[in-house]
Amino acid sequence: MARRKIIAGNWKMNMTPSQAVALCAELKDLVKSDSVDVVYCVPAIDIVPVAQAVKGTNVAVGAENLYIEDKGAYTGEISAPMLVDAGVKYVIIGHSERREYFKEDDAFLNKKVKKAFEAGLTPILCCGETLEQREMGVTLDWIRLQIKSDLVGVTADQVKSMVIAYEPIWAIGTGKTATTEQAEEVCKGIRECIAEIYDAATADAVRIQYGGSVNAGNAAELFAQPDIDGGLVGGASLKADFGKIVNY
Ligand code: 13P
Repeated sequence: MARRKIIAGNWKMNMTPSQAVALCAELKDLVKSDSVDVVYCVPAIDIVPVAQAVKGTNVAVGAENLYIEDKGAYTGEISAPMLVDAGVKYVIIGHSERREYFKEDDAFLNKKVKKAFEAGLTPILCCGETLEQREMGVTLDWIRLQIKSDLVGVTADQVKSMVIAYEPIWAIGTGKTATTEQAEEVCKGIRECIAEIYDAATADAVRIQYGGSVNAGNAAELFAQPDIDGGLVGGASLKADFGKIVNY
């Protein structure tokens, strides 16, 4: 089965609302594509203006986070129904920055994944190893543990529709991309893990991205790998280069 590629920008904590609107205008013609899905995952405060700015284009809006309750006394949090009402289609869950700086563990992330599905959002579930783990040779063990824990109670049909992003922590924002072989090896390992938990059809359908210093120069080779279905792009999603990555 041919999986449609998905290229998502993760803006992280960059772009004020007015800068966000300007970036959407700058990228509008550059990211046009009939053959891949394009997503901007933006800071919460940018969601409404970005949804407005990309209306009628091929770009979908994603959030960078959500909370596990629908409403109530959770000061500072944003719920899945709020995101949906604002026009959000995708949500990043379990980015290594949230795991590390905000101490989000797999049990909590599992709740977030389920909450996203309940609301009709498509999760982009992130996983990835530290440099120390890679050097110790436990990369795949670690990633399999993350995936299995984060997907407890998630159905095969849900997994078929979701996105998993493999992001080696040592490659994020460092300019040090994983080699094509390293990236493909882990993405293939994730697909095999999904086949073990679910079945071959689910593994065949789930889209797996690579993330970590993706740029206009390395995207084509990475995305040509059989198990890499696109990218989750940080720094390079904030400039015109993102258009080149989309049209790799
Ligand atoms: P960079 O592309 O800046 O390395 O960031 C990757 C990332 O963390 C995307 O979620």
